[in-house]
Amino acid sequence: MNILITGGAGFIGVNLVSYMVNKYPDYKIVVLDALTYAGNLQSLKSVEGKANYTFVKGDICDRTLLDKAFNEHQINAVMHLAAESHVDRSILSAEEFLRTNVMGTYTLLEAARSAWKDAEAGTKRWVFLNVSTDEVYGTLGSTGAFTEQTPYSPNSPYSASKASADHFVRAFYETHGLPTLTTNCSNNYGPFQLPEKLIPLMILNATEGKALPVYGKGDNVRDWLYVEDHCRALDLALHKGRFGQTYNIGGENEWTNIKLVGRICELLDELRPAAGGRGYDSQITFVPDRPGHDLRYAIDATKIKDELGWHAQHSFEQGLKDTVLWYLDNLGWCEDVRSGAYAEYYDKNYIGR
Ligand code: NAD
Ligand code: TYD
Repeated sequence: MNILITGGAGFIGVNLVSYMVNKYPDYKIVVLDALTYAGNLQSLKSVEGKANYTFVKGDICDRTLLDKAFNEHQINAVMHLAAESHVDRSILSAEEFLRTNVMGTYTLLEAARSAWKDAEAGTKRWVFLNVSTDEVYGTLGSTGAFTEQTPYSPNSPYSASKASADHFVRAFYETHGLPTLTTNCSNNYGPFQLPEKLIPLMILNATEGKALPVYGKGDNVRDWLYVEDHCRALDLALHKGRFGQTYNIGGENEWTNIKLVGRICELLDELRPAAGGRGYDSQITFVPDRPGHDLRYAIDATKIKDELGWHAQHSFEQGLKDTVLWYLDNLGWCEDVRSGAYAEYYDKNYIGR
């Protein structure tokens, strides 16, 4: 396969690129990324120079650039991850979310359709894998889990833009026959996640002696999955997923935010004790809630388990510890990603201040 991975310089992207480049030396892995505040080439250092890896800087809204990339690299598979991904940013302004997540996905679909048509006579599997989120389903009450039959009911501008993209992907399958499928995954954690998201934010703020801002009462629930488990699911979906289908991916690993932040504090107390024997949980600060804050996400992953033989391999206990250690060992990377456009937004707008 010659695979175009969009958003390959972001959190899940860099983990996926490294997984695919190492697992498939005979494939061609082409990363296309605009390097927004969320994309970082330093994160791709481990694959730089590998024969099966190429990086293209570009925007998924740029049709001319997309056509060139599809032609030049004879692309026959797309793993589409490029997106604006942070809910809090989408609350302050949704414009970039519409541009990238909706218009960008549409432009990519059109470019893919054109490349797929040219290649249609060939015998190889041609596939467009759309990487989406469980947030499109909206919120759960205290019981139940999202299945692939749960109706879309997005509550944040972020999830509304992702839902729109998912509908276009589905429509291109139904209308044009483009071989597409969508995966809807729960919250990921692991190395290279930007420190605007809950887990890395708490690790860094704790060690820097800053407040640990918990929204509302901290009783919102997320279903956490180690990023490499997500990457393995995407690999399976790419090779074996049925076109026109959606697959839920999740860790069956629900945590309230306050319990999770408490667990991170305990790990830090053990791995990097604060001066004077003070517990890091003394830095927890309850701040005004996020508007429209979804109460609970939980995934029923029966379909991907039964059809594609996927299951999560990482325990949360080990995965979270490894993640805390990774951040403590990579403070230079954190400094780098927190400079420039990231800092400009964050210093002015951060909701938890
Ligand atoms: P991220 O914000 O860390 O990375 C996004 C990447 O997309 C960045 O490298 C950025 O430079 C790039 N990008 C943004 N706009 C672009 C554009 N117009 N053209 C080209 N590149 C552009 O996001 P992430 O957490 O790695 O998420 C990746 C994908 O997975 C997203 O589609 C997201 O909706 C989805 N997802 C994320 C999670 C999660 O927990 N992080 C869970 C489920 C699904
Ligand atoms: P986040 O990592 O932004 O992911 P998402 O909103 O896509 O689930 O947030 C995870 C949970 O943590 C969510 O319920 C919001 C909450 N949260 C805080 O309480 N404080 C924070 O500073 C952040 C960033 C998130």
